[in-house]
Amino acid sequence: MPAPTLIPPPLSLYVHIPWCVRKCPYCDFNSHGQKGALPVDAYVDALIADLEQDLPLVWGRTVHSVFFGGGTPSLFPPEAIGRILDAAAARLRFAPNAEVTLETNPGTAEHGRFDGYRAAGVNRLSFGIQSFDDGCLARLGRIHDAAQAEQAVRLAQAAGFDNINLDLMYALPGQDVAMAERDLARALALEPAHISHYQLTLEPNTLFFAKPPPGIPEDDAAWAMQERCQAQLAAHGYAQYETSAYARDGRQCAHNLNYWRYGDYLGIGAGAHGKLSTGSDGRILRRWKQKHPAAYLRDAATDARIGGDEAVAPAARPFEYMLNALRLVEGFDLGDFEVRTGLSREAIAAPLAKAVVAGYIRQDGARVVPTEHGRRFANDAMTLFL
Ligand SMILES: C[S@@+](CC[C@H](N)C(=O)[O-])C[C@H]1O[C@@H](n2cnc3c(N)ncnc32)[C@H](O)[C@@H]1O
Ligand code: SF4
Repeated sequence: MPAPTLIPPPLSLYVHIPWCVRKCPYCDFNSHGQKGALPVDAYVDALIADLEQDLPLVWGRTVHSVFFGGGTPSLFPPEAIGRILDAAAARLRFAPNAEVTLETNPGTAEHGRFDGYRAAGVNRLSFGIQSFDDGCLARLGRIHDAAQAEQAVRLAQAAGFDNINLDLMYALPGQDVAMAERDLARALALEPAHISHYQLTLEPNTLFFAKPPPGIPEDDAAWAMQERCQAQLAAHGYAQYETSAYARDGRQCAHNLNYWRYGDYLGIGAGAHGKLSTGSDGRILRRWKQKHPAAYLRDAATDARIGGDEAVAPAARPFEYMLNALRLVEGFDLGDFEVRTGLSREAIAAPLAKAVVAGYIRQDGARVVPTEHGRRFANDAMTLFL
C-alpha cells in the first residue's frame, strides 16, 4: 500500500513577546523581568523582519488564528500590536473571522487600552488570573490582587470583548479543595467564554523547583481539586475538551486546537517555535528562533535569528502526534493521523492495541478516543508510542 500523502493542515501564527513586569517564581516560559523601558518599536521591527524571511515557508496558505503569547503581550501598547497585525495581514492571507488572541496580565491592564486592542484587531483575550485568593497570589509572586483581576476582566468586557479566557492554576501552596472551588466560583461569576485550569507544576529552572514552597498539595488532593472543579465547570456549561481546557459552546480556542490536532504554525519572536508541513515533498520542519531577546533583536533581519531547524523524521511523528491527541477529549480519526503525519495507520496499530488493553483509549473503527484514565496518565500512555 502506498504511504498516505501529507496534506498541509490549517496554519496559525504565534507571536512571542518575551517580557513581564516581574518573573513569577513558578514560570518556565521564555520571559524576562522588565528592566527599564521596553524596546517596543525595535522589537516590532524585528518581528516584521523575522516574518518577512519566513514567508517562503508558507506561500499561498491561509492563517486561521493568531496568538500573542508571552511573557506578557499586554505590556505592548495597542499601537504596537496593531502594527504587527497590519504587517502580518499585508503579507499573509487571513481567514475571515480569524481568531486573534492576546495574553494579558491583569496587573498591566490600564483603562482605555482594551478599546485599543479591539480596534487593532484582537478579538480574544486570555487573562493570567491564577487565583482569586490574595494569599495565594502573594505566594505565587503575582503583581496583582484578586480585586484588580476582576476589575481588569470587567474593563475588557465593557470594551466589548466577549471571547475571554481566564487561566487558573490549582494545587497551589497552602490551597485546599474548598479554596480551589472558591477560586473557580469567582472565575465563573465573571462569565468568561473559556477557562484554562492548570495544575501547578514545579518546572526545572524555576525558583519553585529549586526551593519548593511549603504546603503544596499531595497528588490525591490535587486530583480531588481537578475532579470537583471539572464537575463545577460542567454544571455551569463549560465542557472539557482538553486536559486543562474548558469552554462554552463554540468557544473552544481555535489556536490551541490547531496545535493539539497537529496543525501547522509559524512562530515569530524570541524563542518562538514553529512547525510547518511542506506539502508535496512530505516534509515536516520544526524551526525555533534565538531565545534571548537581545540576541533576537540583534539578529532578527538575518538567518542568525534561527535558533535551529529540524526535520521531523517519519519515525518521530507518531509520538509527536499522540502527545497532543491523547490530551483531546474528542480524540482523533485515523484518517487525520494519516494526512497529518504522511504515515499509514499501520504505523501505530500495535501501540494502539496495547493502549486499548491498558485502558488508555477506546477505539471504534477509525475513531480513537482517550479514556479519562488515559488522559490522567497521558505520560504513561505516551511512552507506548515512543
Ligand atoms: C504566558 S502565561 C499568561 C499571561 C501572563 N504572562 C500572566 O501570567 O498573567 C501562561 C499561563 O501558563 C500558566 N502557567 C505558567 N507556569 C505554570 C506552571 N508552572 N504550572 C502550571 N501552569 C503554569 C499560568 O496559568 C499562566 O497564566
Ligand atoms: S506566569 Fe506570566 S507573568 Fe508570570 S513570569 Fe510567566 S509569563 Fe510572566
